Amino acid sequence: YTRAEVARHRTPADRVWVTHGTEVFDVTDFVELHPGGPDKLLLAAGGPLEPFWALYAVHGQPHVLELLREYKVGELSPEDAAPPPGDAADPFAGDPPRHPALRVNSLKPFNAEPPPELLTQSFLTPNELFFTRNHLPVPAVEPGSYRLRVEGPGGRSLSLSLAELRGRFPKHEVTATLQCAGNRRAEMSRVRPVKGLAWDIGAISTARWGGARLRDVLLHAGFGEHPPGEGEWHVCFEGLDADASGTPYGASIPFDRALSAEAEVLLAYEMNGRELPRDHGFPVRVVVPGVVGARSVKWLRSVAVSPAESPSHWQQNDYKGFCPSVDWDSVDFRAAPAIQELPVQSAITEPRPGAAVPAGELTVKGYAWSGGGREVVRVDVSLDGGRTWRAAELAGERPERGRGWAWTLWELRAPVAAGARLDIVCKAVDRSYNVQPDTVGPIWNL
Ligand code: MTE
Repeated sequence: YTRAEVARHRTPADRVWVTHGTEVFDVTDFVELHPGGPDKLLLAAGGPLEPFWALYAVHGQPHVLELLREYKVGELSPEDAAPPPGDAADPFAGDPPRHPALRVNSLKPFNAEPPPELLTQSFLTPNELFFTRNHLPVPAVEPGSYRLRVEGPGGRSLSLSLAELRGRFPKHEVTATLQCAGNRRAEMSRVRPVKGLAWDIGAISTARWGGARLRDVLLHAGFGEHPPGEGEWHVCFEGLDADASGTPYGASIPFDRALSAEAEVLLAYEMNGRELPRDHGFPVRVVVPGVVGARSVKWLRSVAVSPAESPSHWQQNDYKGFCPSVDWDSVDFRAAPAIQELPVQSAITEPRPGAAVPAGELTVKGYAWSGGGREVVRVDVSLDGGRTWRAAELAGERPERGRGWAWTLWELRAPVAAGARLDIVCKAVDRSYNVQPDTVGPIWNL
């Protein structure tokens, strides 16, 4: 069979085919028997099993292969066993390979999210499934010649190699969730269309990041004090990814946050104990815990202490919030501050909208998170559209006060009567008693 033929078998109605090595299997009759649930197996339908088995180690046992063999229907044609060659004229041809489970919202530039079924399978998101938000092609960086430039007032500057960044500064680790401001835009668009990528609930993921503290690097470069003069200063970041005119991706954070030991801002070179993957900023990215993902600049080429915010489009004319009645004719981007800390958020990962659930005990699962390190203290869940509520059980240890950089996974078990129609809603509460609205209409933002 060709890969294209295999790819036509993605549903039980068309039969469910998968490949392993060069072998082809029809696993339709196994779908309902899959110990991890039919929905998880269907994510691999029409393609290779290896990327999924690599994530879920239980598959690496001899009896799993034996079981698979019962379903073999053939082999891949030899000429189809290798992936197609890249196109040299395409600026995205050098982008890295990606995991087939990711739900792609845009291929070029690459923007994709983990499917809801896998999003809260584990507290730390596997690197391969971490949502990706790229505005431009992924730059190819040669780690040996990589240099990070650090500059600021008085014309002082510093250039660091990757080895210097790793060797001169203590490695600091932080478990932090990144969320794109566009997370759940698809739901907002159902109220009234919004421009931009139609993210579902997966533009959010969590990793353990390792790297040098931005604070240590700024102190080393001689920028340890608030520069003289009135007003707030900023630390501006630029990436190595640039558009056709040479303009790089850029963003900034306030100087005080950059220098704060408590804020734990990192120049990260590790993600979940491994080198940063190319899609997530190899070899060095900023990680600003508790702040909108847009400020965590990837493929970092420069850090600049400045009296002004980043002049970048993504700081000035995007990632801002407005009154719900402001539209593209009336918007004045200068009227709103750039988003830094994000508001409280939660979403349901199971069951999926429209799913039929059996009568009896229903398990509702999801995630909750808030910006600024404000840990989630409660998640309320309603099965009747918000008339009555129950508090969900929060998983894991409670974070230290003010250091809730990572999401909280939650779960609620509730009895469900046969024939009931459920309208499931969740809303989280953070430690400042900020309460997430239970509908999206009143917070619509162009
Ligand atoms: N940094 C660079 N250089 N280029 C980018 O396109 N996207 C930003 C941010 N940093 C971006 C970037 C946005 S909007 C988000 S939400 C996060 O990276 C996403 O990080 P991730 O792709 O590792 O999830």
